[in-house]
Amino acid sequence: MIPTIRWEDNCIYIIDQRNLPREKECLVCHTLQDVITAIKEMAIRGAPAIGVAAAMGLALGSQSIKTGKYGVFRRRFLEMAQQMKSARPTAANLRWAIERMIKLVERMHNKNVEEIKEAVRNESRIILERDIEINLKIGHNGLELIPDRATILTHCNAGALATCGYGTALGIIRAAYEAGKDIHVIADETRPLLQGMRLTAFELMEENIPVTVIVDSAAGYLIRKKMIDLVIIGADRIASNGDVANKIGSYQLAVIAKENKIPFYVASPLSTFDLDLKKGDLIPIEEREPGEVISFAGHQLGPEGVDAFNPAFDITPSRYISAIITEKGVLQSPYKSSIRNLFGARDDRGKDIRGKGR
Ligand code: MRU
Repeated sequence: MIPTIRWEDNCIYIIDQRNLPREKECLVCHTLQDVITAIKEMAIRGAPAIGVAAAMGLALGSQSIKTGKYGVFRRRFLEMAQQMKSARPTAANLRWAIERMIKLVERMHNKNVEEIKEAVRNESRIILERDIEINLKIGHNGLELIPDRATILTHCNAGALATCGYGTALGIIRAAYEAGKDIHVIADETRPLLQGMRLTAFELMEENIPVTVIVDSAAGYLIRKKMIDLVIIGADRIASNGDVANKIGSYQLAVIAKENKIPFYVASPLSTFDLDLKKGDLIPIEEREPGEVISFAGHQLGPEGVDAFNPAFDITPSRYISAIITEKGVLQSPYKSSIRNLFGARDDRGKDIRGKGR
């Protein structure tokens, strides 16, 4: 698998996901603005990958700040961070990565600017490397939930392409397959941008993991026919009560899964949790261009001038979620306390974050 994102010769190379798998091309970002555009236009997408792109984009942008004065550097860096924040509103990882970079710059207030630039670049590399380790842990932690023989439904793409490697929901599927379990994946096509059909199916086929694509509206039929053993999805943001924002269509899958008594799992790194939010309804939901709905593969199929509405994510209330699999373990209901206990320990840099949730 080609790396989702990498830094080379002072440029950021992003595998352009808009035309995968038909075209396997890299987008070369020379500036902060190039990276922001790549995130907005979804050349790179998926919450963890967006976080890494944000960190790298800021590192790239910071190299172009021409000053030797800390105050001037900090001001320009904060302006860049502000611009980056507006790229996509729902994924918590974007803000998480930006805040981590800002904290680093502020901690280094007594260092010279060249050292800070170097540290910022290094931090983005650490975030990338850590993302892969986290996904491997999520895969390992989720393994026990997967029966030896299972047909697994997934929605959108929470795989290597949505991260820096291995994936979250697909990481668990990969781990199960690597452990010798007899796995068959059913991938929802995921309208309107078809991340399930284009990206999830592509990724799994590259590794010979059996996959079948269905249209989104077929999922209920398959679940009711007992053709699915469990559902696993990723997450874009998780509120402190365990409500999950993920790709539009996730909520209806969760409701149908519960109605038919099959488990509905969410796989997610801790960087996707937003402990500042009490419940999912407070998560901002991105609304994208109506044109994405009425067009298919660049051709407008809807009538000229037709109205369309295109929310990119929805909220699944935590009562529909059987477990949330993280790199630190598997969370179960009641989520408010299991999340508090998990974060109450320490964050991944050893910092005590007790009391952060409101
Ligand atoms: O709009 P996208 O393609 O960025 O949406 C991606 C998803 O909804 C993923 O499921 C989520 O980001 C988790 S990725 C590990």
